[in-house]
Amino acid sequence: MGQKESLVVIEKPFHADGFRLGLVLMQKSERAEVKQDHTVTILVVEDSKFQRNTLVRVLEALGYEILAAKDGLEGLKMFDKHQPRLVITDLEMPRMDGFGLIELIRTREINYTYIIVLTALTDKDNLVKGLELGADDFLVKPVNPEELRVRLNSAERIFRLQTQDKLIFALAQLADCRSPETGNHLKRVKQFVRLLAEELARLGDEELTPPVISILESMSVLHDIGKVAIPDSILNKPGKYNKLEIGIMSKHTNIGGQLLEDIYQETGSEQLKIAKDIVLHHHERYDGTGYPAGLKGEGIPLAARIMALADVFDALGNPRCYKKAFSLEKCREIIVGDKGKQFDPQIVDAYLAREQEMWEYLVQHRDVKEELDSCESIEPDGK
Ligand SMILES: [Fe+2]
Ligand SMILES: [Fe+2]
Repeated sequence: MGQKESLVVIEKPFHADGFRLGLVLMQKSERAEVKQDHTVTILVVEDSKFQRNTLVRVLEALGYEILAAKDGLEGLKMFDKHQPRLVITDLEMPRMDGFGLIELIRTREINYTYIIVLTALTDKDNLVKGLELGADDFLVKPVNPEELRVRLNSAERIFRLQTQDKLIFALAQLADCRSPETGNHLKRVKQFVRLLAEELARLGDEELTPPVISILESMSVLHDIGKVAIPDSILNKPGKYNKLEIGIMSKHTNIGGQLLEDIYQETGSEQLKIAKDIVLHHHERYDGTGYPAGLKGEGIPLAARIMALADVFDALGNPRCYKKAFSLEKCREIIVGDKGKQFDPQIVDAYLAREQEMWEYLVQHRDVKEELDSCESIEPDGK
């Protein structure tokens, strides 16, 4: 592929159209009203026949598929067989109570199960114990149908967010499959971004509320999505880039950023604003010598400053075609050496506080050298 052709692809990143469409559809589905025709199956576990039948009738009228069990043991068998997304369970039951059931579901679920416990108004201790064991919500008996409907709407909202998170990950993996990094890179940076953001929140950063941290984690996987528009001849070029190629490679930030900016303008979604900040600015440097905008210090969006450290830490601790995986000590030396240069000093402090957890996760999910054989490119910042 010649140079001229490469530049044409940069000007018209048609690869990006599919991603744009996918992201727009996701945003639309997130804001859509809850459908009346529910696809979620609910397992009801209740020993009182009257209460059980009443609940089943109400839930069926709301359009759900229902499984019903008379105690925890029967409920667990049904859970293992059908893996329902939602369980509504009483707490005090013969053979196996609701507490035992919740504990076992949490060890056997394939996908996250939303659990609602049924409780008497006076039974605060049991309710607290149920929530501590991993229940997500509660309903006071006798169940009010309107309250039940509202609780189920919250559960369905969580399901939509989980689905959205998986779709974003899948799109990002698709974009990344032409790049040197493996799918594990995205999984790891997601975790590093979460740990760094949680630590910064603990240190008093009020911008980083739990919902913002979840958005950051979810959107971090999109950071290199602009690479979909970079030609293979450059993306997977063996050896070092020349000046022109560095210029083209560095455009992945503008291309991805523009893609997300367009969708942000269409949808007004806060999530896409954060995604855009990450994608456009993850190669900025704290001292102002990065790209594409040369932003400096806190002028760089916080999400992008966190992403920058997470991304580099992952590149340092894993093997690349041009280097071996560095030891923890070497990673630390490089990151601390770049404190205030490439990285925000506060984020370096957050890294040092959570380094052990980040390192353990990296080692558990580390790339193997053979997987990287076909790819030998380096990002323009050389990391
Ligand atoms: Fe990048
Ligand atoms: Fe990356």
